[in-house]
Amino acid sequence: MPTSPRFDVLIIGSGAAGLSLALQLPNSLQIAVLSKSQLGSGSTSWAQGGMAAVLHDRDSVEAHVTDTLDAGAGLCHEPAVRFTVGRSRQSVDWLVSQGIAFDLREDQPDLEFREFHLTMEGGHSHRRVIHAADQTGLAISEVLANRAEQAPNITLLTDLCLVDVIKSGGRVCGAHLLNTQDRRVETLSANALVLATGGASKAYRYTTNPDGASGDGIAVAWRAGCRVANLEFNQFHPTCLYHPKTRSFLVTEALRGEGATLHLEDGERFMPHFDPRAELAPRDIVARAIDHEMKRLGADCVYLDISHRPASFIRRHFPQAYERCLALGIDMTTERVPVVPAAHYTCGGVVVNQHGATDVPGLYVVGESACTGLHGANRMASNSLLECFVYAQSAAEHIATSLSRSSSRSSASATATPTVWDDSRVRDSDEKVVIQHNWQELRRLMWDYVGIVRTSRRLEYAAARIALLEQEVSRYYGRFQITRPLLEMRNLTQVSQLMVSCASGRKESRGLHFNSDYPDALPDALDSVLIPPNFDPTLALDGPVDQLPEYP
Ligand code: FAD
Ligand code: SIN
Repeated sequence: MPTSPRFDVLIIGSGAAGLSLALQLPNSLQIAVLSKSQLGSGSTSWAQGGMAAVLHDRDSVEAHVTDTLDAGAGLCHEPAVRFTVGRSRQSVDWLVSQGIAFDLREDQPDLEFREFHLTMEGGHSHRRVIHAADQTGLAISEVLANRAEQAPNITLLTDLCLVDVIKSGGRVCGAHLLNTQDRRVETLSANALVLATGGASKAYRYTTNPDGASGDGIAVAWRAGCRVANLEFNQFHPTCLYHPKTRSFLVTEALRGEGATLHLEDGERFMPHFDPRAELAPRDIVARAIDHEMKRLGADCVYLDISHRPASFIRRHFPQAYERCLALGIDMTTERVPVVPAAHYTCGGVVVNQHGATDVPGLYVVGESACTGLHGANRMASNSLLECFVYAQSAAEHIATSLSRSSSRSSASATATPTVWDDSRVRDSDEKVVIQHNWQELRRLMWDYVGIVRTSRRLEYAAARIALLEQEVSRYYGRFQITRPLLEMRNLTQVSQLMVSCASGRKESRGLHFNSDYPDALPDALDSVLIPPNFDPTLALDGPVDQLPEYP
């Protein structure tokens, strides 16, 4: 039997979570970080507004915690919120030490001691979003990828798409990965495996996310025996650019933080009718208000207007948004920008504890794929990057300690040999149209039936249709040579099924989940925890199985 390349830690995903975790592990460990296409292909590079952190004298951890709890509509886990917010300054310090150049205030005369420029976003009671103009994610991605390239103990691998993890004696010992260049399946061994594969917003027809956001890590972890939670809370960002010549371009919330207002076609400003915080209410409220107005009027979009701010200010703070709109013939310094809500962020995910550990020993999940308890029923703007860095750091510490404790090189997982992929019984597909059709059908039905406003009947329709798609995809998977679209379709179908299952189980409306048959929130806020058929309670995280883990 051929031996598979062995690493101490295998990290699937090269976004904020995966790269920062790799860089914080001891350099005595051999680490591989891999991506299914180029290193910067995840959502991280697309992040615009910035990262929330308590940095200003007038701000406080307490205020950031209160705002997060409020945005999360009663379902955030306060210990997780305190854990994350309490480490926000430390995360900023680490990022600065890596070389990220966040914007500084320009109104301070002493060039050497300028403070960070902090912007404002929905749900925040203070200016606390640190950023690099409106391309914060790109700045972070490039610097971290550069650092990882220079680290002698980190191997960066691209064009490898995770198929599934491999277990031995209940513990993860490696993974099967499709090489999308030569279409062979490779087997890699590891003592610890981290899923940092991002979210699943590609389940929806309209999304702000890049193509790879197909929920792969969530589906893989579920198949491996991990619980998942709160997947009904998929966030819709209120302002995605609406234009026939572009798709998936987010118009950052920071524009509203700097005074942009939302209007109907006839010019009426409508947000003050929905919430006293108007355009700066949490995202679920703003997206639902836009959806309501568009449906009421049969409108294709609403309009975002920042033209009252000086043109030089707009160009300096929002260069990307300005250029992108201008290329489409919209000058945002003088004109309003057409926008619509679009699927943006997966608030739920794989159940993890404060170290990113899951129910399967040796398997960790960090970043958007995880459900830490921080976001509850609705994520507050710019808390996602923060969560990536805080939990990546905590997972790195935990992995380092547990590998040294089990003196990794002689541990059972180190000697376990993962089974090699066998594709002797499959053939090349002559029916690729099936996958293409199913992608479109799934994403359309999720948009129409499991969107911003749901009903119990639409959720039933969605469950029935997804079950059929699932059967078709499973048959296809068993018969034909795997490809990246097939793997993504398989994962997206699985995650959509889990999303609908969580949504159907919630007999109330809360945060991002609004069911017009149950328009009110129930007095007790409970998580939707789903338990996979192969769940092993003897190996699982501590605590009751129908709840997220307690923090010590
Ligand atoms: P990602 O950055 O999405 O990376 C996922 C990685 O996993 C990629 O490398 C991908 O190739 C890899 N991968 C996935 N599946 C597989 C597989 N099967 N095999 C191998 N590799 C795989 N959040 C904020 O806090 N502030 C913001 O300003 C902000 N702006 C945003 C703007 C946009 C347009 C979008 C889409 C999101 C924004 N977010 C923002 C959310 C935030 O960017 C993401 O939640 C965060 O970057 C996710 O990081 P991650 O490391 O978990 O995953
Ligand atoms: C944005 O810039 O509007 C996105 C911020 C976020 O998703 O947190």
